[in-house]
Amino acid sequence: MKNMISIEGFKIEGHFPGVISPDQKIFDYNALITTLEAHKQTLHNLLLKYGALLFRGFPIEHASHFATFIESLGLGSFVNYIGGDSPRDKVEDKVYTSTEAPPALHIPLHQELSFVKKHPRHIYFFCEIPPVTQGETIIGDARQIYKALHPEVRQRFEAKGLTYTSNYYYQNKIMRLMNKIQRSHKSWTEVFETHKKQDVEKQCLNNDFTWQWTKNDWLQIQQTRPAVIKHPETQETVWFNQAHLYDFNPQLLGWPRYIGAKLFYFRQYTRLHEIMFADGDKVSRQDLYHIMDVLKQNTVAFPWQKNDVMVLDNVLAMHGRAPFTGKRRILTALTS
Ligand SMILES: [Fe+2]
Repeated sequence: MKNMISIEGFKIEGHFPGVISPDQKIFDYNALITTLEAHKQTLHNLLLKYGALLFRGFPIEHASHFATFIESLGLGSFVNYIGGDSPRDKVEDKVYTSTEAPPALHIPLHQELSFVKKHPRHIYFFCEIPPVTQGETIIGDARQIYKALHPEVRQRFEAKGLTYTSNYYYQNKIMRLMNKIQRSHKSWTEVFETHKKQDVEKQCLNNDFTWQWTKNDWLQIQQTRPAVIKHPETQETVWFNQAHLYDFNPQLLGWPRYIGAKLFYFRQYTRLHEIMFADGDKVSRQDLYHIMDVLKQNTVAFPWQKNDVMVLDNVLAMHGRAPFTGKRRILTALTS
């Protein structure tokens, strides 16, 4: 399909993601930044139309190039990853590794921090080291996914809303050992980027989380959020929740990991996540499996190339990660 939007210096092709590349062979970093700044509004409109843009073939070499690229695009101000529980490392201010979750694990589609009131509006990915096989940052169109779900599931989730429960440890030798073997469970000091309980409580208040300090300084937080929202600019209705990632089930974890998790997380206060409807009703596995099937059917995967940058509208587009082999280093950042 021929694209009607044009920007001098850029070639724009495809639609999910819209792929933007230089229309001449040599395009230096400064020229890229100048072009981004000059065409902010057009690029913003393009992102609202497609939900996902992939910048390919530009000399974006390292984390600070990536950060300047995001600033030049001007979609919003950087926000940190507070409240998120994917294992990540901070690379530099506001830039993180995308996820340190085990390479063999498939991370299903989701919008970043969709269970948090102040969720980020955009998420960015930068490919520093492409994986040897697979490892795509898979994406999905949340408008299509909303339409593809069974109307009864959609209505049930929309009418009831969801309550998310998370449990985070403090200083715990067993948890640290487990994370050495396989990073899976974050401490509250990592989730809230502080060691002070007072700061945690302040951030909970700020985000409408209720909290409880439990045995051995564990922290339990809960929040009730809608399952479906309207995009703040386009007013389109999208599926916007992480119910499918808050239930321990064999489809999500795979049987060996599921059995391991069941044995270890037998006590309620050590369970990482739980999900229920806001009225206290149970969310059925049948519904969750249906959602996961629809997400799978609507997954788009493209192989990473070194120096690629992907920009997602975090309401219109979901992301996840395919399993991989090789080193894989994908950096990420968020803006609101
Ligand atoms: Fe994510």
